[in-house]
Amino acid sequence: MSTLLAMAEKLEQTGIGTAIAEGRYAFPVIEGIHLIGLSMAVGLILLIDLRLLGAFLPDVSVKALHRQLQPYVFAGFAIVILAGVLLFVCEASVVIVSPPWPFKMFFLVLGGANALYFEFITSRRPEALPDHGPLPGNVRYAGFASFALWVLVIVCGRLIPYIPHWA
Ligand code: HEM
Repeated sequence: MSTLLAMAEKLEQTGIGTAIAEGRYAFPVIEGIHLIGLSMAVGLILLIDLRLLGAFLPDVSVKALHRQLQPYVFAGFAIVILAGVLLFVCEASVVIVSPPWPFKMFFLVLGGANALYFEFITSRRPEALPDHGPLPGNVRYAGFASFALWVLVIVCGRLIPYIPHWA
């Protein structure tokens, strides 16, 4: 842990880390950008998940919804990750000792893996996304897992400043 803390402190002392930490508005503005990216990427993913579960726009084809929203989801993720890395660089030693942080990263990796599997494997199987009728069980399960994982990422992200230490 002490090596990790030393690395985190080095990151904070970089030009970009000190510039963000010392600026009056830099951190809140970047955090706002993080939240805008979040609402774009995760907001649209949650709508697709609800569609997979049959609870939203049941008459709209999943294929069409997925294809049309996909570029906005990718753009939102690019914004969220870029802003998240900038936030991390300026307060790495504070963030890594906060208990919700490893949970946020864990759920983020699982949510990302689930989304990539859906994107590159499931959605390319012709029988997985029929235009009419109920979706296969594994597709609905992927939608439920995705919904739960992204909600957990958001909750853990919000908890970071409220639970700063393990003890
Ligand atoms: C889709 C992915 C992500 C979601 C849903 C997410 C969600 C959140 C949320 C809800 C907050 C709290 C904002 C607030 O308190 O107003 C937050 C803060 C933060 N996020 Fe993320 N985040 C994501 C990705 C990342 C990534 C990839 C990183 C860095 C590698 C990151 C680093 C941070 C940091 C450093 C904070 C500030 C914590 C603090 O308040 O001190 N996030 N995130």
